[in-house]
Amino acid sequence: RVHMAGNDERTYIMVKPDGVQRGLVGQIIGRFEQRGYQLKGLKLMQPTEALLRQHYNELVTKAFFPRLLEYMLSGPVCAMVWEGKGVVATGRMMLGATNPQASAPGTIRGDYCIDVGKNICHGSDSVENAEREIGLWFSADELLSWTPHSRPWLYE
Ligand code: PPS
Repeated sequence: RVHMAGNDERTYIMVKPDGVQRGLVGQIIGRFEQRGYQLKGLKLMQPTEALLRQHYNELVTKAFFPRLLEYMLSGPVCAMVWEGKGVVATGRMMLGATNPQASAPGTIRGDYCIDVGKNICHGSDSVENAEREIGLWFSADELLSWTPHSRPWLYE
């Protein structure tokens, strides 16, 4: 069961420019590590407008999109791929509600931010979108295949 298919679900998690500027990268990585998820890819980068337009392709017609774009271009982001059982849905739960005013205390947004336009992190909303986003932000050689020693202690 330890190596069961399904334990290899992946999600794309990104610390947004405000999270990087506020020094929250370590806290966010720490929560995923602590939970037992496995880090598969990690990089600090300045996203381009073209990449953000692809990433947020469903939002380009929204009224808030220009502001979202300006925000996401305002500095480096920390792009990550995390792997593990149910990591897409659990990752979203760990981030908290998109609008921090509604994010429960104990979640990342519920503990560290206030405004939806400065909500410090992104997490894929479906397995399908996760794979799409991972493909946009990472090349295949940037994703490492490795077996953490903790695995038998995490999965039944
Ligand atoms: S929607 O309309 O249901 O698709 O929007 P939602 O799922 O709530 O949010 C999608 C992403 O858009 C961001 N967002 C905003 N950014 C800036 N300003 C405003 N007003 C705003 N509203 C939504 C929201 O944070 C989501 O981004 P990610 O990166 O996925 O968290």
